[in-house]
Amino acid sequence: MKDGSQTNEHWGSRLGVVLAVSGSAVGLGNFIRFPGQATLHGGGAFMIPYLISLLIVAIPLASAEWALGRHGGRRGRHSPIGIYYEAGGRKPICGICGGLMIFTAYVIDMYYLVVESWCLVYALQYLGGLLKPIGLGFSIIPTIEPGLKLGSAEGYASAFDSITGSASDGSLFGSSTSIIVALVALCTFMNFWLIYRGISKGIERFCKMVAPLILLCSFFIVIRVLTLGNPTGEQGQSFLDGLGFMWNPQNLDKTLLDMDVWLAATSQIFFSTSICTSAVCTYTSYVKSKQDIALSSVTATMANEFCEVALGGLMIIPPAIMFLGAAAADNIGSSFSLGFVVLPNVFGEMPMGQFFGFLFFTLLFFSAITSSISQLQPAVAFLKETFRWSRQTSVLVAAVLVCAGTSFVCWFTAQFAALDTFDFWSANFTPFLCAIVQTFIISHIWGLENLKSELDRGAIVKLPSGLGKLIKYASLPYLVLIFGAWLFQNFGERVESLKTSRSAQISTLFLATIVVVLFVVSLATTLRWKKEEKEQISSNKEIQE
Ligand code: TRP
Repeated sequence: MKDGSQTNEHWGSRLGVVLAVSGSAVGLGNFIRFPGQATLHGGGAFMIPYLISLLIVAIPLASAEWALGRHGGRRGRHSPIGIYYEAGGRKPICGICGGLMIFTAYVIDMYYLVVESWCLVYALQYLGGLLKPIGLGFSIIPTIEPGLKLGSAEGYASAFDSITGSASDGSLFGSSTSIIVALVALCTFMNFWLIYRGISKGIERFCKMVAPLILLCSFFIVIRVLTLGNPTGEQGQSFLDGLGFMWNPQNLDKTLLDMDVWLAATSQIFFSTSICTSAVCTYTSYVKSKQDIALSSVTATMANEFCEVALGGLMIIPPAIMFLGAAAADNIGSSFSLGFVVLPNVFGEMPMGQFFGFLFFTLLFFSAITSSISQLQPAVAFLKETFRWSRQTSVLVAAVLVCAGTSFVCWFTAQFAALDTFDFWSANFTPFLCAIVQTFIISHIWGLENLKSELDRGAIVKLPSGLGKLIKYASLPYLVLIFGAWLFQNFGERVESLKTSRSAQISTLFLATIVVVLFVVSLATTLRWKKEEKEQISSNKEIQE
């Protein structure tokens, strides 16, 4: 097998890989999904399963995934199939598991790109000034219902409906709405262009460029939020009421017995840190063989948690409760309505809200790009490694396939049928399966000794030796328990709901096709590798004889 030194793609520096992995982790999940999930699942009570999952699952598994990635990379493997094939003692079944992990990141990307483009629409719209009558005076939001006062609650809801085309399937493809589809295409193009430029010239350079911008925007927004005076209206509450909603656990007994809450909290951890979804191990397979991964992995995980809990939790929920009252939390139908309807209302109420709205959506847009490129890289590495295509061809094929999925999401917009279906399978269901498989491979096939020696190689600070045991005896049983209990309690209900929506059924069929194709290709690839190894061994023997 090739040695890592022969692979030509590597991160330029240690800071570069830490920023790229943190960039993958920090995204819409931190600023939209996390506050939305916390609000939907009981505020403070949600934080208990969330913090438990962070300690038992995220921190140990993130480090292990860095180790898996670099271990594969040193053997010339950069696709999840190759990485898991190597870690699994060159067993085809482990390679296939790696192949299926690509599903998660790739399918998430199909709708993530659409939401990313909504952020761009909002950022531009704040600049144009339609949501409030100040600004540069242009509008890109297509059809606001006549008679609605802009800047009113109905105005924001109607703007969101028209951007997302939620009224009916296919409504984004009308002539007045084509600008939205054009922006989705623009975002997709930008993503593929960065991937096409390569690991250090494309992804690393971009992440290094936008990291300070993201921090600066968050800094200004946090200062604005912390200096808000108490609103005077009848719903007005203090900043502490908002914080209390997030951190005071209430209705604990009811919330903690609901497996949906545990699934949501653990899935949020997977989504937010990007672990167990093939994104992190693909990135870390490009780390140079003697570079530190122990400290880097913990730094990236902690940077993400800071952005999620400290920044995301501070910027969104407390002001929403302050300006709109606790009732705002009850009226939130989805994470999206919190970010794209409730928040614009809040910006509408606060002094200089137009400017801070622009900053917020710009921050979201750039942090989303650094995440969506990490969802694409595993698929590109997969195509390159399995079909031995050039980077150009792999990027092109991955782009065409992603466009198919994104078109699905843009077409089946009524009640977000496609987006919800994609989100459920790729962001809630499969990450659990992948995490269980990953922890099993690490603890029972690759082995805790190998994990430790990989983590210690080049380590600036060595991680505690109990980390492997934590994965084997705590993470694995915890994941199996939660997933099993959730399947038992809630899965039937979910399948039932599928029966009523035709668009959801078509979307599920589309996803099932992707799984079958990935399975077949992964199987064929790993069997081919096995055959090549045997041929290599027998030709070596012949030479010796
Ligand atoms: N972590 C990102 C966020 O919080 C989303 C993300 C990036 C992701 N890469 C991923 C999710 C891979 C799943 C798989 O927004």
